[in-house]
Amino acid sequence: MRERLATRHASDVLDADGPVRPLRVAIAGFGVVGSSVARILCEREDLRGALQLTAVVNRNVARKRAAWAPESIAWSDDIDAVLGGEVDVLVETIGGVEPARAWVSEALRRGISVVTANKLLIAHHGRALAELAAVHGARLRFEAAVAGGIPAINAIERGVAGDRLARVGGILNGTCNFILSTLASGAASFDDVLDRARALGYAEADPSNDLDGVDAAAKLVVLAAVAFNLELHLEDVRRQSIRDVTAVDCEYAASLGCTIRQLSIADRHGDAEVDAFVGPALVPLDSPLARVFGADNLVLVRGQYGGDVTLSGRGAGGDATAVAVVSDLLALSRGECREGIARIDRAQPASRPPLPYYVRFVVRDRPGILASFAAVFARHGINVDAVLQRPGHPKSRLPFVMTLEPCGQEAAAAALNELRALDAHEVPPVAFPILSGGVHGA
Ligand SMILES: NC(=O)c1ccc[n+]([C@@H]2O[C@H](COP(=O)([O-])OP(=O)(O)OC[C@H]3O[C@@H](n4cnc5c(N)ncnc54)[C@H](OP(=O)(O)O)[C@@H]3O)[C@@H](O)[C@H]2O)c1
Repeated sequence: MRERLATRHASDVLDADGPVRPLRVAIAGFGVVGSSVARILCEREDLRGALQLTAVVNRNVARKRAAWAPESIAWSDDIDAVLGGEVDVLVETIGGVEPARAWVSEALRRGISVVTANKLLIAHHGRALAELAAVHGARLRFEAAVAGGIPAINAIERGVAGDRLARVGGILNGTCNFILSTLASGAASFDDVLDRARALGYAEADPSNDLDGVDAAAKLVVLAAVAFNLELHLEDVRRQSIRDVTAVDCEYAASLGCTIRQLSIADRHGDAEVDAFVGPALVPLDSPLARVFGADNLVLVRGQYGGDVTLSGRGAGGDATAVAVVSDLLALSRGECREGIARIDRAQPASRPPLPYYVRFVVRDRPGILASFAAVFARHGINVDAVLQRPGHPKSRLPFVMTLEPCGQEAAAAALNELRALDAHEVPPVAFPILSGGVHGA
């Protein structure tokens, strides 16, 4: 198999002066991203010396045939026939874990390099697939799997390769960012904004994977693999849904000089310990994280030597994501090779260092409530920093907020569990961490 790739890439495709013939590209999955990749490859004449689209694979492919695509492209339902033909690179844009894993594995086994936009595939099987690629002399690239059009993986692997990264993450889910930034701009309710997100095509009919942090956690796993050379599993990432965030929380956050965003943060402690979480957090208004609006994304890295670096832009959308795919294809056509994530070590879980928390209650007001809540925090060794109560709410359903001095996540969770058991609540209390200190938060 090595021989076959050597023929395809080293001598057949490249010589010392660059490509001697274009890489033959097959696209599997002619949907939003796959069709945008195809259109860029067909429209950009300047790429033809490097890349040639030769085949498209999709189920019931006849309905997918595009009028703008040249006659030379083979349209097929049959992945095996396409992989058995003249192909140098497979672009995988079918999504999901299966059959994507099987198709990508088969391509790599045949020495065919793969470019994928599939975060779930890489989060679940990235290391194994990278190993398979290495064994068969093929390449596996996945720039588009994280933050769509933002070249985050390239920036981490090349731009800050001289640093030792301690943090990676950011705002990785455009649906959540649209909802939270719209809610903070004065929208009526979470459900109204979710409906608007659906109408604009930012949220799926079942938005659970976005709202509950599964999508962002998969991206964080991919980023951590590249940034730390450590293998996180999806279940290592603590997740909190954004479904609990209300317009009232956005008002209270503003009065604390903050806004609320779904953050995805992985912090490395020592060599192999990683603390990773995805969920709503209060971020100071002067942080770049607070200035990401709508469906945009932001990727941040924190290096031991170079400090903080951020990249922002469109985290999704067919064209933006396709640019990342085509950039990976061009890197392959230039013969760029990199170690990748084939030989990364398993990350060890670490607990989150103490953070301040925002805790919101909605209660049937009666004398002594504040004192009884403060007593629960005190029992868990937690100091209350401030109590905020905005006017204009009925006593029968009164929201108020307690902010907590930095405390361990376990202590905060235990206190919250005890508080939830009290009978004063109209709505169960919620707690979000407050990121403070430093441009991107501590
Ligand atoms: N859309 C974005 O903005 C975006 C951004 C970043 C990354 N991504 C990633 O890119 C990948 C593709 O996303 P997308 O939005 O382009 O999805 P999509 O529009 O649903 O396209 C997927 C395409 O693959 C085809 N397909 C799916 N399963 C197949 C199977 N078993 N056999 C044959 N064909 C199959 C689908 O055919 P049918 O038409 O029959 O369903 C469809 O044409 C996903 O991994 C996604 O996470 C997407």
